[in-house]
Amino acid sequence: MPYRSSPVGRSCAPIWDPTDQLLYLLLRRVARGAAFTAAIASSVSCLEEPLPPDTHGEPPFEPLLCVQHGALPLAGLALELDSLELGRAPYGNNRVATIAGTPCAGAERPEECSAKRATLIAQALESDVCNGDQWGNCFGRPYIITTTGDDVELAAVSGPELHAILGDIDTPAEAALVLGLHVPESGCDTTEKAPVYRLVRQGVEVRTLQSTGVCPTVTSSVVQLVARDGTLSEVSSEVVGIDPLFCFAEPGRRPAGLVASAHRPASTELGRFFQGAAALEAASVRAFEMIGRELHALGAPAALQRKAREAVDDEVDHSWRMARLAERFAATAYVPSVCDTPLRDRFALALDNAVEGCVRETFAALLATYQAAHALDAEVLQAFARISRDETRHASLAWQLQAWLEAELLPAQRERVHAAQRAAVQALRDELAKEADPELRRVAGLPDARTALLLHDGLRRALWEREPASA
Ligand SMILES: [Fe+2]
Ligand SMILES: [Fe+2]
Repeated sequence: MPYRSSPVGRSCAPIWDPTDQLLYLLLRRVARGAAFTAAIASSVSCLEEPLPPDTHGEPPFEPLLCVQHGALPLAGLALELDSLELGRAPYGNNRVATIAGTPCAGAERPEECSAKRATLIAQALESDVCNGDQWGNCFGRPYIITTTGDDVELAAVSGPELHAILGDIDTPAEAALVLGLHVPESGCDTTEKAPVYRLVRQGVEVRTLQSTGVCPTVTSSVVQLVARDGTLSEVSSEVVGIDPLFCFAEPGRRPAGLVASAHRPASTELGRFFQGAAALEAASVRAFEMIGRELHALGAPAALQRKAREAVDDEVDHSWRMARLAERFAATAYVPSVCDTPLRDRFALALDNAVEGCVRETFAALLATYQAAHALDAEVLQAFARISRDETRHASLAWQLQAWLEAELLPAQRERVHAAQRAAVQALRDELAKEADPELRRVAGLPDARTALLLHDGLRRALWEREPASA
């Protein structure tokens, strides 16, 4: 559960500056206007779109073995080695390595062996970059390090090379290593994501949960065959969840480096909504941590840096509140993976802020304001009352940031920032066209699609169509 401990206690309340207060009044006016217009319209006609069919459920599969938490039984590899490890970086914030045996266990000079191993790991990690795959995931290249006595070897890993080391692939442990080359998320880092194995005549079948995409995140149960010669082929793939959490659940500030995270979507709309909201709030924590570091590096005014620090605390609190509601509606909250990315320069930060702050987080503030007035569930209402106030300050920070960042951009750069913002406004409008579940609207106070578009129109007229830096 994200940030299970508790909401963050502050020694003093955040300061509301005049821009915060102006935005607060503007958002309340837009929210009231949209609700009023929608009420008039609904008395004339009523459009309800059917929900897509439920795609959840898992086909039966009998697990025979699960390799636990990065430790592989060396016996399963049938090798004359002290250890063999498959590493990969970055994975979220951490290097991950699957290790069989004990490194340097048979070395006569174990300290030298360990030092050499550490040097080779550092060397392997150096060559890793946060390359995006076709889904935008960023995982480094895999590598293998073996130790035998005092010898330490680094292998530039490919499928054939691993096959040459392992010989025929006919045990689950060997299959796990082959799979690790191709599927970065195949490690047993949570029970739900743990791969399961089945020995078959042609080799080893492995089933994993794999998630792709961000908007929406599609999670599939994939069965792959690791053949004896080390080749990998897909046997079957079944979608077990389509999660639009970063599309509409709660628009908000998404960090650079956000990647799809395998998880089990809840079985109800309410559960999925709060599960998604908790994940996005947790992602926003990382977004503001990063912005704080970038503002410090850019020498931003102290007030902006302070607001970014306060926003981190706010997002922790929001994540905690949403996770608690997710649990109440029988969903398991999780923290999405965020790859480390380098600090951005002024222009890159301005581009990101225009989209994630001036558009998405500003709309999130408006939406939360609407929900705080319409949610029928007392706990939900209380949560969004708090979130709407915080998000309004975050939105205000986004617009203040934009003004400060743009002051030193070239005219062509400013135009690119504004173009990105206009595109984000349109993209958000497209997302809002999807109708929310009636129970979700009732309990969580979400607007129907028509009202959501009215909210969008209101904000566009009041804020987005104005010169961005003038807000
Ligand atoms: Fe938030
Ligand atoms: Fe926020």
